[in-house]
Amino acid sequence: MQNKALIDLSRNEYPEPPLALLEVALPRAIAIANLYPVQALVELRQALAKHHDVDEAQILVANGATDLIWLLARWAREARAAGSEAEALAPAVSFVAYTQACGSAGVRLRYGPMRADYGIDLDALLQSVSESTRVVFLANPNNPTGGIIGNDEFSDFMARIPTSVMVVIDEAYRIFSDVAARIHSAELQKRHANLLILHTFSKSFGIAGLRLGYAIGTASLLAQIERHSGPFSVNMVALVAGLLLLGHPDFAENAARKNNERRSFVTDALTQLGLRVLPSQGNFMSILVPGQAKELADTLLSYGIRGRTLDDYGLPDGFRITVGNELQNAALISALQKIKQSNALNSIFANSQ
Ligand SMILES: Cc1ncc(COP(=O)(O)O)c(C=O)c1O
Repeated sequence: MQNKALIDLSRNEYPEPPLALLEVALPRAIAIANLYPVQALVELRQALAKHHDVDEAQILVANGATDLIWLLARWAREARAAGSEAEALAPAVSFVAYTQACGSAGVRLRYGPMRADYGIDLDALLQSVSESTRVVFLANPNNPTGGIIGNDEFSDFMARIPTSVMVVIDEAYRIFSDVAARIHSAELQKRHANLLILHTFSKSFGIAGLRLGYAIGTASLLAQIERHSGPFSVNMVALVAGLLLLGHPDFAENAARKNNERRSFVTDALTQLGLRVLPSQGNFMSILVPGQAKELADTLLSYGIRGRTLDDYGLPDGFRITVGNELQNAALISALQKIKQSNALNSIFANSQ
């Protein structure tokens, strides 16, 4: 069991599950739990296809978006050119699962440099593409920096990247981003067969523990990727809950609205304390704490709050905090105020006025 007293802001989870909907979903799933999850998968796939206005064969449902990242890395290894190493690309500061999945599949992951403002440098990534590159992983909004890619630069990137390279745009946090600033990924996918979009039910739908994600891409590419998955990898509870949640988009919309209000509140409070916050379009934010990330993590833990150090995300000078509910956020801010007052970790508050 989890320690109830601990406020865990380390994994970018949504602070509450969709309880009312799960109370309906669970008995439905339990009543058919003797069956393999075949029909439930068909139904969710159909609903997702309708929702995104694509063919059913253009949807691949998986055990979370992370599962898809693992399948993609295996696909990249299989798709390597004869006699050459399989290679993938990702921004230097990005979601750790890309590194882990490529490591596990034996795919060499090369990193493109970030821009000075910690934005993703698409030009640098383009220049890094080699004959061996099979996949480029892009989280948008990016985790842990929180920034987004603009639609024009992304369209340009898609127009210029060789069609032999699969571009994976991981939109786990899309719903938290400004509507006007979102890239037109669905439209671009229709024009570019080498574009694959990842989505998850973990964040705004609040069911990270049930594990449900999906990819949208061309039918032929998805069929190739699916061959790397074991059968029945998504369980009945996740499928039934996903179908129900999809029919209630208000839950996710509401969750995103609440998250974004709370995100502004926490960002303002932390900035006022003198912390250097990277502006975020996700349900988290990272602060820059050069040389002090481990100390900050330990000190916050002594106040009962867990955040995330980012060495394995390529940002050793950063520290990431998930946007919690009002009580959790208040506890975080109060702990940081106390840390500042105690004159501990002085250098991280250097911007204080
Ligand atoms: C960019 C990104 N993609 C995917 C995920 C995980 O999605 P899932 O829970 O569906 O595996 C995360 C979780 O932190 C993430 O940051």
